[in-house]
Amino acid sequence: MKINPVRGTHDLFGDEINKFNKVVAEVKNISQQFGFNELITPIFESSELFKKPLGEQSDVVLKEMYTFNDRNEDEITLRPEYTTPMIRAAISNGLLNNLPAKFFGTGQMFRRERPQKGRYRQFNQINFENFGSDDLFADIEIICLANTLLKKLIPNSKFTLHINTLGARENLSDYKKILSKFFNNNQKFLSKDSLDKINTNPLRILDSKNPEDSVLIKKSPKLIDLTSKTDLNNYEEIKKSLTGLGINIFEDPNLVRGLDYYCHTVFEFKSNELGSQDTLIGGGRYNGLIQTLGGKNLPGVGWAGGIERIMLLMKSIPKKQENIHLAILDPTFKLHAIKIYDFLIKNNFSVYWNYKYNLKKSLSFANEKRINYLIIVGENEKANNNFSLKNLSNGKQVIVNIDNILDYLK
Ligand code: HAM
Repeated sequence: MKINPVRGTHDLFGDEINKFNKVVAEVKNISQQFGFNELITPIFESSELFKKPLGEQSDVVLKEMYTFNDRNEDEITLRPEYTTPMIRAAISNGLLNNLPAKFFGTGQMFRRERPQKGRYRQFNQINFENFGSDDLFADIEIICLANTLLKKLIPNSKFTLHINTLGARENLSDYKKILSKFFNNNQKFLSKDSLDKINTNPLRILDSKNPEDSVLIKKSPKLIDLTSKTDLNNYEEIKKSLTGLGINIFEDPNLVRGLDYYCHTVFEFKSNELGSQDTLIGGGRYNGLIQTLGGKNLPGVGWAGGIERIMLLMKSIPKKQENIHLAILDPTFKLHAIKIYDFLIKNNFSVYWNYKYNLKKSLSFANEKRINYLIIVGENEKANNNFSLKNLSNGKQVIVNIDNILDYLK
């Protein structure tokens, strides 16, 4: 019986797992530098955590969630994103008493999308969230964090920060009405996909990639005309600070993001080396969301990045390998060899047991793997606890006692 992986899922091994671990290690490093604490949430949650907050008409809720009834009929969803679970966890555990509360996490997300390069049904996200601060510096800091992380992980790739402001939440609901009216009056210039969104999700028409829609989108009412002077000034200040930090900015008035909870600053880091799934990181402000989820009326800002997408741009990472191999001359010396093996491992060396029990085979195996040292275990070694230590880079061989072998290897 041959069972294939489920469509849109993948296994991680070899070079991929090295890249994956590097991403997670860098995320942990940088979270310390910027003062974010780790928060790990369950992979599944009550479906209601996602339905309204992400938007009943968003693609994620309409088409992509893995939702099922538990045996007692509770409706459960595999998390499609990490922001709402983090807020739920912060509220459930009373983590919002000392503000700002800054959290990060990495883990698997699930969306039933059409799989292609950079888009999977199970994928991993990095997530950074800052709860409780309305300060513009919270927006700047979290974008700067994203930029610093990407520079560390993909120093040779070019990526650009696309940024927009959606203004206050009230403006946004007025704007949606104005847009629906405009698109309704111009239906004949829209693609079929966009027609379906006129009354339910008109904002998403703005980021349609269908060329049929492009002329009308250009002529559509602009959100910026509804945005207050103060909000616009704040937006200018954010952009100015980011440019001052040397971040490449592209102002995109049609950037609206796919989830309903955003207001004010929204942003995406994009790369043109990735094809159609070109967004490495996406995020923004979500003032009001914490209250929607049963918490206090607190602001928030954050982002999520796709680990698999970042990995597509990372260079191979050589595996750190065991630098000592054991050459056990024949199986009768196994019991003796395990003593030195155990001794070296307990002293933090990496040692490899090759199952060959033959000097010639052990030598060629170790040479092929470019190993530094070979420890030969045979009759002589068994008799007096001495071991032959062969340095494979210069060919020199010495006999050392177990008591001073550590000094030699260090
Ligand atoms: P999102 O734009 O839906 O935002 O996802 C963020 C990132 O996750 C994307 O830019 C992409 O790199 C990655 N991603 C999304 N879907 C897939 C997929 N099917 N396969 C591979 N990678 C994928 C959010 O999830 C928001 N929660 C971000 C946020 C945090 N906003 C505020 N805080």
